[in-house]
Amino acid sequence: MEHRFVKESRCYKTARIFPTDVNNHNTLFGGKLMAYIDDIASITASKHARKSVVTASTDSVDFLLPIRPTDSVCLESIVTWTGRSSMEVFVKVITEDLRTGIRAIAATAFLTFVALDENRRPVLVPEIVPETAEELRLHETATQRADMRRHRREESKKFADFLQMSFPWE
Ligand SMILES: CC(C)(COP(=O)(O)OP(=O)(O)OC[C@H]1O[C@@H](n2cnc3c(N)ncnc32)[C@H](O)[C@@H]1OP(=O)(O)O)[C@@H](O)C(=O)NCCC(=O)NCCS
Repeated sequence: MEHRFVKESRCYKTARIFPTDVNNHNTLFGGKLMAYIDDIASITASKHARKSVVTASTDSVDFLLPIRPTDSVCLESIVTWTGRSSMEVFVKVITEDLRTGIRAIAATAFLTFVALDENRRPVLVPEIVPETAEELRLHETATQRADMRRHRREESKKFADFLQMSFPWE
């Protein structure tokens, strides 16, 4: 089976926090950070698969610390696990106080992307090969997260079947 190293699809993005990016607490708006996360993760998934990809699920986003206008925000994304057509992507968000240089992990996220062929059908992706200690740790723990996703997907389908589609005015 074709394989690719984690480093081949790793991405970085660094941004400033502008006045239009903040919420009422004068910290980075969560929706803005989630857009950054989905954006960089989709580039990593595309570089790994070299196919068009879609976000199948945002499995978790943990906002660990507020991000202030005096911080820079740096996102790093890697593929941590591959199934047949699906890829788990991990995004690490590191802030740096631009006055002091002090860094912190402000958020982490896991997302799942699926590679599609020309007919928009799921298609095989290369197997991921982790190398560093961090990559290996994320890869080792991925099977457990994949099991949880499978279970959640089944539950979510049952829940969608139960939901009504009528609007209040109908
Ligand atoms: C994601 C999508 C392509 C899956 O299609 P599907 O017909 O259900 O495909 P399958 O059941 O064959 O599953 C294909 C793979 O996706 C994975 N998958 C599907 N839904 C998933 C979900 N909600 N969470 C995690 N993985 C999921 C399956 O586990 C499977 O993985 P594998 O090939 O590695 O074993 C389809 O649900 C879709 O198009 N969703 C909308 C995507 C979208 O519009 N995203 C937002 C904009 S990019």
